[in-house]
Amino acid sequence: MPNRFKGKLIIVEGIDGSGKSTQLSLLSQWLRSQGIAVVFSEWNSSPLVRDTMRRGKKKKMLTPTTFSLLHATDFADRLERYILPLLKAGAVVCADRYAYTAFARDVARGVDRQWVRNLYRFAPRPNLSFYFRVPLEVALGRILGGRDVIKYYEAGMDLGLSRDVEESFRIFQDRILTEYEAMTEEMGFQVIDATLSIEAQQQLLRDLVQKKLGKSLQAGTLQGVERGKDGNEEALTVL
Ligand SMILES: Nc1ncnc2c1ncn2[C@@H]1O[C@H](COP(=O)(O)OP(=O)(O)O)[C@@H](O)[C@H]1O
Ligand SMILES: [Mg+2]
Repeated sequence: MPNRFKGKLIIVEGIDGSGKSTQLSLLSQWLRSQGIAVVFSEWNSSPLVRDTMRRGKKKKMLTPTTFSLLHATDFADRLERYILPLLKAGAVVCADRYAYTAFARDVARGVDRQWVRNLYRFAPRPNLSFYFRVPLEVALGRILGGRDVIKYYEAGMDLGLSRDVEESFRIFQDRILTEYEAMTEEMGFQVIDATLSIEAQQQLLRDLVQKKLGKSLQAGTLQGVERGKDGNEEALTVL
């Protein structure tokens, strides 16, 4: 379903280490510097299912289906309580991951492709979706070593791909990458070569935002809103 709100929804997708957060944060700062009301929404941040999710992960109780359903609930809560009201008010919402993350990750976990797309049918289509295309090894090189333990579900350890966490993570990320590639056209992603420098990619993003949303950003969007009505700072950080 297309997004017909006054505000604009910009989202980023890609495997871990593709540079999504880096680019979205720079893009938000740039938009904000032009006096546009920008809010930031993160994946996996709804207070509604936080405790259940945490317990399920800690005790390794989640199956691919319950993992998917809990994330969908988390997403629906964030969408209905923060993202949609802000879009209606005319803000630019920058979302770090969107439903496509579930399409890639839950399917990589063995969930049926059509089932998961159907589950997220309530989600409006973003005005602009950036996909950061990066070879697995480049992304792994950026994140492995540089950080502490990879978590059980993050590494896809629940799938029994390998006993070694890093190897499991590698196989799982590769599956996710395959899913992203397969949906690129279907979802109308703007593909960004994520091996380029941070500055070069940011320029591409800004040019595309200007080209695709430039006029409406000047005309319709809210200028200078301080924060979402709900005021949940953890879920929604105003940049
Ligand atoms: N274009 C780039 N070239 C090299 N390193 C990058 C680039 N973009 C991001 N990084 C680094 O890679 C790591 C992962 O970036 P991040 O934006 O957190 O990715 P994601 O949000 O997709 O997981 C960070 O340490 C970041 O500084
Ligand atoms: Mg990130």
